[in-house]
Amino acid sequence: MKRVLVCVAWPYANGPRHVGHVAGFGVPSDVYARYERAKGVDVLMVSGTDEHGTPILVQAEQEGIEPQDFADRYNAVIVQDLVNLGLSYDLFTRTTTTNHYATVQELFLGLYNNGYMVKKTQMSAVDAVTGRTLPDRYIEGTCPLCGYVGARGDQCDSCGQQLDPIDLKNPLSKIDGKPPKFIPSEHLFLDLPSLSQELRKWLETRTAWRPNVLKFSLGLLDDLQMRAMTRDIDWGVPIPLDGWRDLPTKRLYVWFDAVVGYLSASIEWARRKYKADVEIKDAWQAFWTDGSAISNYFMGKDNITFHSQIWPAELLGYSGRGPKRQNTHEFGQLQLPTEVVSSEFLSMEGEKFSSSRGVVIYVKDFLDRYQVDALRYYIIVAGPETSDSDFTWSDFLSRTNNELVAAWGNLVNRVANMLAKSFGEIPDVQIAEPVDLELLKTVEDGFEVVGSLIEKHHQKQAMSQLMHLVASANSYISTTEPFKLKGAALGDKEKTRGRLAQILRTLVQVIVDLNTMFAVFLPHSSNAIYKIFGGSKGVDAGTGPEVAAVLPHAQVVEDLDNSARSYPIITGNYSGGLSWQRHEVVAGTPVEKPELVFKKLDVSIIDEELRRIQVFRRAADEV
Ligand code: MF3
Ligand code: ZN
Repeated sequence: MKRVLVCVAWPYANGPRHVGHVAGFGVPSDVYARYERAKGVDVLMVSGTDEHGTPILVQAEQEGIEPQDFADRYNAVIVQDLVNLGLSYDLFTRTTTTNHYATVQELFLGLYNNGYMVKKTQMSAVDAVTGRTLPDRYIEGTCPLCGYVGARGDQCDSCGQQLDPIDLKNPLSKIDGKPPKFIPSEHLFLDLPSLSQELRKWLETRTAWRPNVLKFSLGLLDDLQMRAMTRDIDWGVPIPLDGWRDLPTKRLYVWFDAVVGYLSASIEWARRKYKADVEIKDAWQAFWTDGSAISNYFMGKDNITFHSQIWPAELLGYSGRGPKRQNTHEFGQLQLPTEVVSSEFLSMEGEKFSSSRGVVIYVKDFLDRYQVDALRYYIIVAGPETSDSDFTWSDFLSRTNNELVAAWGNLVNRVANMLAKSFGEIPDVQIAEPVDLELLKTVEDGFEVVGSLIEKHHQKQAMSQLMHLVASANSYISTTEPFKLKGAALGDKEKTRGRLAQILRTLVQVIVDLNTMFAVFLPHSSNAIYKIFGGSKGVDAGTGPEVAAVLPHAQVVEDLDNSARSYPIITGNYSGGLSWQRHEVVAGTPVEKPELVFKKLDVSIIDEELRRIQVFRRAADEV
């Protein structure tokens, strides 16, 4: 059986997610997973909140609360946002579980035993006055590689390279604006240079990747450095070595642990699903070690280095596939990513998203005011799939009104109304004319056209093909003019009614087909449309002319290894749902006058929303 592991970047639990975040990792991963499931592929889609690292620690400190309490709050908020977006995770968990800690430590030990974790002393930044360790992210200076002035101690946002604070020219602490002091500190470094050949060999086989992602990833190999995988910090996964384990101020680097989340979440998923150890191991290993699965990783472009370099290096070294010691460990030979599917950046009204400056729209606020599928549609057609893109309220309005409402929503509405009025049910097939057959064929062929584009991660093109099919259906109505075939005025009453039945039958079949394709993009409205054409009389999903799209849900569970704690996860049973093919509609299925599925937006929302940004921005400037 074909299997796909869908790995979705783990959002930091340091605040609510905004539209820029979910455009990068969220909606595209969900569309892909839904499509693969509809093709009968066995999909495992995993993610969770990323809860370690200095930003969370510092923000918790500012509020005077424990980092775990701080992360708990945003874990709950983020789970709700992602469920409301309909993101169909098999498991969305978090990095502060006992299971995750154990998985991360096993990975670390395997790498250590194979010789890829090297002790070295480096110069660490401390506050010149208090002597306290300064988190990398809180030091800014000039990038030594590209000269960008606002580079951070961990990464340059201009050239995307990872950095250490000591590399920066003119470093300044963001906390007090003063230059930090550097003192020697011992750390464990991932020996990336020793794995560079293996990494290159692997990347050179990845020819199907988006060209910019591949080029960037290959470029990183030209200057591979050892990277510290530990930090002077007291919040994170403890380092599982004697002499380090109990040090209160040394922990694993947040990125070392976060990427392991894909594996730990797969293990957690299997442990929640099966009882016996062998079953558990078989279940997750089917996605990781037996070679039958492919794995696709979805993220924004600031995450590429960690997925095309650090994570593959961790996997190679742990599995004994590097040039040093070649021992295998408990988890076996873990597979490298099949594809790092990275999107570019989304901006808003021409500016970088910024919570502090109020240039932002949070998922929750968006969904309180607008339809979830309008947001999903916008992200698919105008999101940063392969180049940076800009969210504007006027574009959102016109995409929603002119495309979603006027083309697709209107098609559904017109046909349902005509059916309700003239037959009250789906009519039987009559004698088909060439124009009917032609439309039916074009749309059925669409499954292949649209599907293969989704499979290759060209969702923008896939949606544009789908909207072409919608346009074909709309022009079929203009050509065949069913609205004129109502009375005896046209001569032979029987014949006229027969023709009307055939046209509407053709249209309802076509709409149901289109709705099957839309379901992977816009599952909420697809459910509503499904009900209009078959489910409205309480027909169970699966027995009507179409199968409804399945939505995820949140549920509170106990930590597998720590019954003192429970937390919300996202999960769902998505098997046996939609299937990616024509489902013949059933004559006699009742169709009533429908409610409108998509809401038309009033042009006043543009000013309203722009005013909101201005208000927030002014408030932020005054602080
Ligand atoms: N938390 C990171 C971010 O928001 C993404 C982590 S992806 C992971 O940029 F795979 F490392 F978890
Ligand atoms: Zn740079």
